Amino acid sequence: MAGPQSDHALLVAEYAEPYHGGLLTPGQRTRFRAVVWSYYRSAGRTMPWRETRDPYRIMVSEFMLQQTQVSRVEPRYHDFLESFPTVFDLARATLGDVLRSWQGLGYNRRARYLHETAKLIAGRGGTVPDDPAELRTLPGIGAYTATAVAVFAYERRVVMIETNIRRLFLHSFFRDGRDIPDREIGPLVEQTLPEQALPPRDVRHWYYALMDCGAALAAPALAAPALAAPAANANRRSRHYVRQKPFAGSVREVRGMIIRVLTERGEVSLEELERSAGPTDERFVPALEGLERDGLIVFTRSSISLR
Ligand code: ADE
Repeated sequence: MAGPQSDHALLVAEYAEPYHGGLLTPGQRTRFRAVVWSYYRSAGRTMPWRETRDPYRIMVSEFMLQQTQVSRVEPRYHDFLESFPTVFDLARATLGDVLRSWQGLGYNRRARYLHETAKLIAGRGGTVPDDPAELRTLPGIGAYTATAVAVFAYERRVVMIETNIRRLFLHSFFRDGRDIPDREIGPLVEQTLPEQALPPRDVRHWYYALMDCGAALAAPALAAPALAAPAANANRRSRHYVRQKPFAGSVREVRGMIIRVLTERGEVSLEELERSAGPTDERFVPALEGLERDGLIVFTRSSISLR
């Protein structure tokens, strides 16, 4: 590896502090911040949702990013916002329209939740809330998405943890730990927040920087033999570690096939749906049951359609 970008990635990969709980020393805080800012200055990523301050657009991006990689979200994000440029446009749309624009992102339940959240927000005047507690009351918004909207749209100085941030803190402060819950990581996130929240070193950019450092630790470019073990595996030390299951062969795959047929064809019979969805085998019935449970489809006497 060569060049400033990989040098900085190595700096992040090699950085670690002894930590046994409690407060970080001022030196530890300073060193951590310096490593993170230095990486971000040299290799921070640009993403379309980092270029906007529109809370609706930021909220849409965070719904999409919940379970889908950045590279797959980027093209869908633009198309989606072209179809639904404001929260009112999304609120007025049908679920079928929303699911059609969601194609390719998977986990269709998120699209329904986003649609319902948009309807609630539109009905209250159209302003996306800035308070994480209030955001959490909306469909599809959990702890991370609530803080992400508060931080990225409103510069709220709150503690936020997601998979990349978790990986960075586990890597930097918990080299030998196991089964670490997020409640042990939260105080470190809080203590390392930048003291002066001044642009461009504001809270929003700080969190972009944390995410980018954490993502770099999972990148194949860092899988040099000496670094691979700590870098690639830090999230396994989390109590909240779950490995995403393969898509091929999953019930989720069949759910996607069913949604595709229904968005293209409207209402179809059960036999027709099974024939058109492709080779679904014993996953067909669990997929249908799951979609009904999630409120995405309805059964009428002889047919099935989107809700
Ligand atoms: N930047 C803003 N939100 C993000 C996310 N969820 N994942 C990666 N980068 C982001």
